[in-house]
Amino acid sequence: MGIYINEQEKFFSLKTNNTEYQMQADEYGVLKHIWYGERVENNMSYLLEYPDVGFSGNPYDAGNDRTYSLNTLPLEYACSGIGDFRIPAVSVKHSDGSCALDLRYKSFKIKKGKYNITGMPAVYGNESDSETLEIILYDTSGKIEITLRYGVLEKYDIITRSAVIRNLGQKSVILEKAASLCLDIPHFEWELVHFHGRHAMERLSQRSPLINGIQEIASTRGTSSHQHNPSFILCSPECTENSGECIGSFFVYSGSFQAQVERDELGQIRAVMGIHPGLFSWNLKPGDIFETPEAVLTYSKNGFSKLSYNFHKVIREHICRGKYKLAERPVLINNWEATYFDFNSDKILEIAKESAELGVDMLVLDDGWFGKRDDDCSGLGDWFVNEKKLQGGIYELAENVKNMGMRFGLWFEPEMISEDSELYREHPEWAIRIPDRQPTRGRYQLVLDMSREDVQDYLYKVISNILDSAEISYIKWDMNRSICDWYSGFLTAEGQGELPHRYMLGLYALLERLTSDYPEILFEGCSGGGGRFDAGMLYYCPQIWCSDDTDAYERTKIQYGTSFIYPVSSVGSHVSVVPNHQTGRITPMETRAITAMAGSFGYELDLSSLSEQDKQSVKLHIKKFREYAPLIHNGKYYRLSNPINDNYALWEFVSDDETEALVHGMVYRTEPNMKRKSIKLEGLNPDYQYQVNGSSEVYSGAALMKGGILLPKAWGDYCPVEFHLKKQEG
Ligand code: GLA
Repeated sequence: MGIYINEQEKFFSLKTNNTEYQMQADEYGVLKHIWYGERVENNMSYLLEYPDVGFSGNPYDAGNDRTYSLNTLPLEYACSGIGDFRIPAVSVKHSDGSCALDLRYKSFKIKKGKYNITGMPAVYGNESDSETLEIILYDTSGKIEITLRYGVLEKYDIITRSAVIRNLGQKSVILEKAASLCLDIPHFEWELVHFHGRHAMERLSQRSPLINGIQEIASTRGTSSHQHNPSFILCSPECTENSGECIGSFFVYSGSFQAQVERDELGQIRAVMGIHPGLFSWNLKPGDIFETPEAVLTYSKNGFSKLSYNFHKVIREHICRGKYKLAERPVLINNWEATYFDFNSDKILEIAKESAELGVDMLVLDDGWFGKRDDDCSGLGDWFVNEKKLQGGIYELAENVKNMGMRFGLWFEPEMISEDSELYREHPEWAIRIPDRQPTRGRYQLVLDMSREDVQDYLYKVISNILDSAEISYIKWDMNRSICDWYSGFLTAEGQGELPHRYMLGLYALLERLTSDYPEILFEGCSGGGGRFDAGMLYYCPQIWCSDDTDAYERTKIQYGTSFIYPVSSVGSHVSVVPNHQTGRITPMETRAITAMAGSFGYELDLSSLSEQDKQSVKLHIKKFREYAPLIHNGKYYRLSNPINDNYALWEFVSDDETEALVHGMVYRTEPNMKRKSIKLEGLNPDYQYQVNGSSEVYSGAALMKGGILLPKAWGDYCPVEFHLKKQEG
């Protein structure tokens, strides 16, 4: 298996099929990070240097040796207050006000299978596919023990990290920072790729050199956020899709986070990622433990494509759970862009009837079906049906939809409360707000204190009442504002810094209860589109509405960025009307369908109002998606262009046995008198002959990968591209 230990030398190596991660405790018991990269089968500590760098400081037990400094060595879990002036992974405040933590090696444990984290999402694995290494470190003066946990999924080239901090002293300490990942890279040059954005324009990829100093990606919004995704990639300057080195990490957490990358005075890199320390403190009483969420790592020597492959596979197979994790997803029709708040049963059934005729699997009723909710000013929290809009209630509507041959799904925004709601009138104390201050509103609404068990119980009760009242096969779990005004009447003054993380624990507890009690239901995450698109939510919801921007052109950029970390099956993606509601842009129907097929496919429009021609296209596209879905969701995904720079967006899915591939995308703008571009394909078998789109065109895999395929002659803007390649037998 993947964990190798030389006990005498206190040397630890985590080996996966193609990667190796090394650590070693030295003569002082300091756990040094030695290597993360390609498999080398050699203790790489010979590369460590011990320069005498001015103003670096030396531990007392190093005596007069000025070359031994924690400020210059690569460390496995850096502490504050003891002479390493780079970003710390952990900081505490002791009862005497001091902040030092000096962790030294104590022992280790190896366990079969993958560790779990209490009450939090994490990569899961069993005894045959994963192993756990625990390294126990101890601060003798402060009596703090920290267990570093490493999960090794050998076949996936995946290493996970989390820490457990235990107070073994007699007095409380305040934990002020507890990162999940601390990765020192003392060698070579690196660049940073991360995914930034805003509402309706999430996860745009950005690549930049590292500056001397600290670069930060973070959210203080109580959600992982539209603005920065909790993930990053460090890559060699020459790294491309299929060559060069890269190390990626994503955080299995949905709340505020911070990822920092520091390039120090010696050009060494340190990357740290975890719960955002600015919104965190934890009162660790004697005997208490704190478990950090998990960070997941992979390394590729063959560029971004392999890195994404590793992440897609581990997310699909070891983070997503339940009936739908690998299953084909239903084709949805969602009424949001068709009706917004303005609907009644008749209107919904009209859309349902048309949808059923065109081949849609499931109707999702979005916002506005409950309480007094005719706009976004009221009603959140009142999760009982608005009979004025839906005569006969959810039961009758769901039955009618079922009788048309479709399943039924429903939108909820459980974490929110409108001031104009019965719930708020009854329980104003359940909203997060600071006493004697006016609360901050977001989309007119306040946020429920999810750390409270009575709030969780209320939500469980009202949601399960609805779920038990009718045949409901899907839930869209929305969350439509950033959180501030952190305060909980429920916690002591000392414990207030715990609220943002306790909120997440409460949310996860509720999701765990509902997803395990209703295993047949498909949960789709959402937060104003993709404001909480992270691996934490994917543990409960195997798909997440990728963005409120349904414009096919913009979506190619959003989905491109998303694809670096997250698998196609996790991307909720729908066809909507033109002119598009977010941009006013007009794109062809075929292009919209192709773009939405790079995800968990559906429609977000009034199908009953389409032209006959468009309706025929919808029929065809649904049929096509069903045919291609196994290839799209289970195949290997390749990015063939960079839509931020190129005049076209192209991506490719290849089946594991390389007998089938699908190239999809669009040419953005058409130019007259121009020759066609040839695009090199990826992942084919060079020796196979591939037939293109069922025609007489047949080319070898080698030709298609080395010479490429000519894009179609474009006519009009956003011209669709589709090549379906099938291995020719014989
Ligand atoms: C959010 C979601 C949309 C829709 C609305 C309803 O913005 O992202 O898809 O559900 O809320 O209010």
